[in-house]
Amino acid sequence: IDWISNWEQPICLSPSPRRFLLAPGGVKMATMKFVRFIMKSASLASVPKHIEHFSKFSPSPLSMKQFLDFGSLNACEKTSFVFLRQELPVRLSNIMKEINLLPDKLLNTPSVQIVQSWYIQSLMEILEFLDKNPDDHKVLGEFVDALVTIRNRHNDVVTTMAQGIIEYKETFPQDWVTNQNIQYFLDRFYTSRISIRMLINQHTLIFDGTTNPVHPSTIGSIDPHCQVADVVQDAFHNAKMLCDQYYLHSPDLILQEMNEKNQPVSIVYVPSHLYHMLFELFKNAMRATIETHENSNSLPPIQAIVSLGGEDLSIKVSDNGGGVPFRKTETLFSYMYSTAPAPQIAEYARPPLAGFGYGLPISRLYARYFQGDLQLYSMEGHGTDAVIHLKALSTDSIERLPVYNKTALKNYKVSQEADDWCIPSKEPLDLSCYKVAK
Ligand SMILES: Nc1ncnc2c1ncn2[C@@H]1O[C@H](COP(=O)(O)OP(=O)(O)O)[C@@H](O)[C@H]1O
Ligand SMILES: [Mg+2]
Repeated sequence: IDWISNWEQPICLSPSPRRFLLAPGGVKMATMKFVRFIMKSASLASVPKHIEHFSKFSPSPLSMKQFLDFGSLNACEKTSFVFLRQELPVRLSNIMKEINLLPDKLLNTPSVQIVQSWYIQSLMEILEFLDKNPDDHKVLGEFVDALVTIRNRHNDVVTTMAQGIIEYKETFPQDWVTNQNIQYFLDRFYTSRISIRMLINQHTLIFDGTTNPVHPSTIGSIDPHCQVADVVQDAFHNAKMLCDQYYLHSPDLILQEMNEKNQPVSIVYVPSHLYHMLFELFKNAMRATIETHENSNSLPPIQAIVSLGGEDLSIKVSDNGGGVPFRKTETLFSYMYSTAPAPQIAEYARPPLAGFGYGLPISRLYARYFQGDLQLYSMEGHGTDAVIHLKALSTDSIERLPVYNKTALKNYKVSQEADDWCIPSKEPLDLSCYKVAK
């Protein structure tokens, strides 16, 4: 799959449990480790102070155009370096403040503790560059290396965080308020992660001195001429292969493009993000189609329409998979909701078709990240339309980022209050008490 080559790892839930690697070493190594440990402890003590400082700044959202400018011919690595050594700590600290607001019972799970330690480690590593000289080429090289290390360290954040939530849910199942808070937190946390990876990818890809052999015109992970239909075909093809493995058959695709000029629709976008969303939608559509047509000989095809207007570029994926009740639409975007059996997290397990329940919520975050959205319109008994709306103009595609402030803080303090709409009684109304005495 060339959209998700090694250098651009989008969020995926592929299992990768090799978290604890033991390095061989002798006495010297042990001494060095000890010295490093002491130094680390000293700087660790100052971490809360740094988080406090950097979380006071709001993140600076970049537009697609600004991302492209960083990669244009007169791109200046120094400018990007100076920007990132401030912006990355700001984005990290903003979200670290929110991690700290999680309920203790969740914050103290081993998984969340690991995630938190990765964030602290990465923050410290970037802070090292604050007093370094941007004119020194060696410094710039070391910065790229540091970013690559950080990106790799955070590869498993989604799976690990998901694991923490599962641990928590198993211990405290009936906690309605916390459910809402967790949804709120995860949406912001994963958006922040997408944005941080975007910044890191752009810098490392643009300034490592190579071009992408598969897509030479890309600027970092952005394709200024992303052919939407190609990505649709690719995502469909790969979902189809997965579907064939599970069900031994799969529905076909009917793809239609609509625009004024009768030319293939293209957009300035991150192909791997678009691929991720479409791949998830196709997997869902295929599963629904097959499970509702188990007893028939033919499968109704999945339809995709790509349509370009003045403001929006929309992609609709429609299936005849029986749909879901209207009441449940929002629930499908919950991080804990899936109707598929939970897949095994094992090192050599094949990628599951469904089951983590992260497909829709994370895809919606990708769409929203550049001011788009992802909506589901289902007709129970018939099928589902899933629509990705993106901004057609690169000037409208601006990062949508969470910021830690009083409003955010308030959202974590929501307590269970009485509803301001009446709750219908399940008991038949006893009208006898209203009878007027004669
Ligand atoms: N096209 C669809 N038709 C019917 N149900 C769907 C469709 N898309 C999603 N769903 C429902 O939404 C749930 C959540 O989807 P998703 O977030 O992709 O997680 P997963 O596929 O891992 O369960 C699915 O388990 C399924 O019940
Ligand atoms: Mg899915």
